[in-house]
Amino acid sequence: MKRERWGSKSIFILAAIGSAVGLGNAWRFPGQAYANGGGAFFIPYFVALLTAGLPLLIMELAIGKKYQSGAPTAFRKMGKKKGFEWIGWWPLATSFVIVSYYAIIMAWTFNYLWHSLSMAWSSGSEDFFYGEVLQLTESPGVLGGFNVPILIGLVLTWIFVWYCIRNGVQSVGKIVKWTVPVPIALLVILGIRALTLPGAMEGINYYLSPNWSKLLDINVWAAAYGQIFFSLSVLFGIMIAYSSFLPEDADVPANGIIIAFSNSIISFIAGFAVFGTLGFLQHSTGILIEDMTVAGPGLAFVTYPAAMAELPGGIWVQVIFSLTFFLMLLTLGIDSAFSIVEGIVTGLVDKFGWNKRKTVTAVCIAGLAGGLIFATNAGLYWLDIVDHWVNDYNLIIIGIVECIVVGWIYGANKLRDYFNSTSNVKFGKWWEIMIKYVTPLSLLVINVLYLVDNLKEAYDGYDMQYLIIGGWGVVLVTIIVGFIFTVLKGKEDTQAS
Ligand code: TRP
Repeated sequence: MKRERWGSKSIFILAAIGSAVGLGNAWRFPGQAYANGGGAFFIPYFVALLTAGLPLLIMELAIGKKYQSGAPTAFRKMGKKKGFEWIGWWPLATSFVIVSYYAIIMAWTFNYLWHSLSMAWSSGSEDFFYGEVLQLTESPGVLGGFNVPILIGLVLTWIFVWYCIRNGVQSVGKIVKWTVPVPIALLVILGIRALTLPGAMEGINYYLSPNWSKLLDINVWAAAYGQIFFSLSVLFGIMIAYSSFLPEDADVPANGIIIAFSNSIISFIAGFAVFGTLGFLQHSTGILIEDMTVAGPGLAFVTYPAAMAELPGGIWVQVIFSLTFFLMLLTLGIDSAFSIVEGIVTGLVDKFGWNKRKTVTAVCIAGLAGGLIFATNAGLYWLDIVDHWVNDYNLIIIGIVECIVVGWIYGANKLRDYFNSTSNVKFGKWWEIMIKYVTPLSLLVINVLYLVDNLKEAYDGYDMQYLIIGGWGVVLVTIIVGFIFTVLKGKEDTQAS
């Protein structure tokens, strides 16, 4: 059977940017920069991009293109043993977990689009989010039943995701022409509005004024590497799947550079929109930025909406900018979400030879089912725990394993020769040094730091039992699911016997 192909190379680049650019750029990067030295953070961030993010991105794109298959089959061919498939299945099991909660965030966003019409949070955005929208219970152990509006949003999200990828890369190609430029345009609009508000410059000061002493803190470096990995969508098998639909002659290094830098530039712009707005909120309410939530769900669903309710010009202006913001989040997130599903589907279809469309439908239904726990009234707690653990452990360990397999077992020099042979941008020996030494060592250091942290004190003060289930338990389950899919018989095993 002939492999699917991207409509053009620029569509591939758009789709890859769409996957990388997501909530991580809008609500993770600005907060990280602020907390880790402001303007000084750009140094570790840039170092992390060059020593780990870009090398890994190029590596994954090269693997996908070379083996013309999703992550599991690609690693199996690379290692020439069935067991190597696991290095592809584990990330896919992990990304399944991620998409199940990423979809919930989009479900909240759908709800907020609706609430924007009446600026329903204007009497208090914090109570509105935790109390009315989430109806958050007092502990992760009290699920409190399903939250119906969130459930509706979740179903909508999955229908949307299904629709975007139902015909594989052909339909993805059509969608990303919209879902990549639209949020960027909306972000720029929000940024300009923010910068022209009173107080904006004080906000920008918080964002950018450098605190150089932070550069001596190893945790700041760890944060920079963590941000790069999460934001570029590497180590989840997605980039391997996406590049597996590229033709032989595609230029991997050039594409990788475009994708990586676009992603960082968009993060940087998002910082202006966010901190300009926070500066305005400080100016109009007198609450100091250091007392506000400047990252994560708290930023998007509490702090930012509060600022929208203060906008001058009357309710309609407020409604329009709120809609703009949530529409931006939605379009920002959707292509990251469906890229994950596409990565999983590609892995399954390549191994088992299943019908693509049916596989898409099945994975979407499974993702919806898997996300139900997050649609309960304790959903936010579980999301918080699961997110923390899979990003701290799975992501990092997968990175180390990939570097060992490619750098030491397969041979970094072989892969570099391969991707350089069809590229105008030749990567030097430094790329090999990164993949063999620098990237895996930096990952290892971060991992140890995280481990020490998590063992020293309970994350966010949750009871140990919940951290064992939602943290270590989920990590363990993804490892086991990876093994199960590895040992299952695929189409090649049956042909061979
Ligand atoms: N990069 C995405 C963002 O910035 C989130 C993300 C992390 C992701 N890992 C991924 C998206 C894997 C797709 C695939 O929000």
